[in-house]
Formats: sequence, C-alpha cells, structure tokens
Amino acid sequence: MRVLVLLGAPGAGKGTQAQLLETPLGLPRVATGDLFRAAARDGTELGRQAKVFMDRGELVPDSVTIGMLLERLAQPDASVGVILDGFPRTRAQAQALDATLVERGAGVDSALLVDVPADELFARLSGRWLCSATGHPYHEKAAPPKVAGICDIDGSPLIQRDDDKPEVVKARLEKQLGALGDVVDHYRAAGKLKVVDGTQPIAGVTASLLAEIRALPGWAAE
Ligand code: AP5
Ligand code: MG
Repeated sequence: MRVLVLLGAPGAGKGTQAQLLETPLGLPRVATGDLFRAAARDGTELGRQAKVFMDRGELVPDSVTIGMLLERLAQPDASVGVILDGFPRTRAQAQALDATLVERGAGVDSALLVDVPADELFARLSGRWLCSATGHPYHEKAAPPKVAGICDIDGSPLIQRDDDKPEVVKARLEKQLGALGDVVDHYRAAGKLKVVDGTQPIAGVTASLLAEIRALPGWAAE
C-alpha cells in the first residue's frame, strides 16, 4: 500500500494537485473536506455535525474525522494506496494514521507540502469556482473556464463553496495554520517531509511534486 499525504494551507492547491496526480500515480485521491461536504449534502448526522465547524472555519473534531477517514481507507479501492488531501490536519490525526498503517504493514511514504505564502491564499480562495457535478476546481484568474460559469469538462454550472465567503476564509486562515505547523513538524521529525514551491503555475507544481515522488525509494517507475 502506497500512501502520499498532500499538505498545505487552505487554498494552497491540494485538491488541484491531488486530482492531477491520480492518473499518473494510479492512486485514488481521498479528501476529508469532500467527504464532509458529501455527508452534509446527504443530510447525515456526521454531515450536520461537520458543517457547524466548517461554516465557522474551524477544524472538525478529531473524534469525528479520524473514524470517517479510517472507514474510507478500509474500502477496496484504497487497498493499493491513496493520495490524502486534507488529512491529517492535527498531530492526533497524524498519529492515528501512522498507527493504522503500521497494522497493515505500511506507512506514509512521503508528506508533500505545497507551500504558498499566507497573503496569496485569500486571493486563491475568493476567486475559486468548482464544477457542481465533480468538484473540479477553477480560478477566475489563474485557471478560468473557457466559458464563464460552465465546467470545461462536463458543461455543469460552476458554484462557489459556502466556506469561501470572505469572513469564513479569514477564520480558516486564522484558525487552521497553527495545526498545519504541527503536522509539518510531525513529518519533518519522521524524515518524510518534502516542500514544493506552490507559487508556480499549476503545471509547474505538478511537475515538482512528481519529481519528488519519483525520487522516493521504489517509486521511480510511477
Ligand atoms: P478542505 O476542503 O480540505 O479545505 P481546505 O484545506 O481549506 O483547502 P481548500 O480545499 O480550500 O484548498 P486546496 O488546497 O484544496 O486548494 P485548491 O486546489 O482548491 O476542508 C474544508 C473544511 O473541512 C475545513 O475547513 C475543516 O472544517 C474541514 N476538514 C477537512 N478535513 C479536515 C480534517 N482532516 N480535520 C478536521 N477538519 C477537516 O485551489 C484553490 C484555488 O487556487 C482554486 O481556485 C485553484 O484553481 C487555484 N490554484 C490552485 N493552484 C494554483 C496555482 N499553482 N496558481 C494559481 N492558482 C492556483
Ligand atoms: Mg481542497
């Protein structure tokens, strides 16, 4: 089982890059934010609980998040491995992930930090639009659709996320960057941290990530 963790602040480009890496690496992307949004859309108890925290720009408690992620990892498509987008976000999540992977005779192969300075994150999040059907991300300036408001890939209308409103973006950045620092420290201490310049154009970030991944022991052919 191969496990990559994509780390980054809100808006750093984790989702954009995780989607671009799925095909070349042959690994599914697992994004806890997407799992929470799907649960909220479905009106489940977990979704209702998570939405309260997401709407405030706060992390969903570990007691809810860890169980949901471990359940997702137990599904058959994850048996080859995963690209994790948005998990772990706290030291306790990182420790729970390590423990469950050890039980499977695996471990995190690498944690790749998409590094973007805080002053650029606000512009990225406030200009973001998503395909209403698949979640494919666009940006008004950096990655605009060919026709405004319409997904290039399947023609669905583009929408904005509830938590991309300016006041919630501000809260996300204020409340979540400290925890990101703890997770970065966790992987640095384990010798697994790689840092990639996230201010490059999207394709440049993908190329840098793939170069780091292919340099990992046993990943050259990926
Ligand atoms: P989540 O959905 O994970 O949101 P996030 O971490 O805040 O990150 P985003 O999805 O907003 O940004 P991204 O890094 O994916 O950037 P993107 O590629 O879209 O989580 C949402 C909420 O759920 C959290 O706030 C929390 O409440 C909860 N949650 C989730 N996981 C949790 C966990 N493990 N524990 C507890 N709570 C959890 O790109 C952003 C924009 O920039 C796009 O418009 C894109 O087109 C553009 N862009 C991308 N790359 C570039 C580039 N290189 N140059 C220019 N523009 C770019
Ligand atoms: Mg995302």
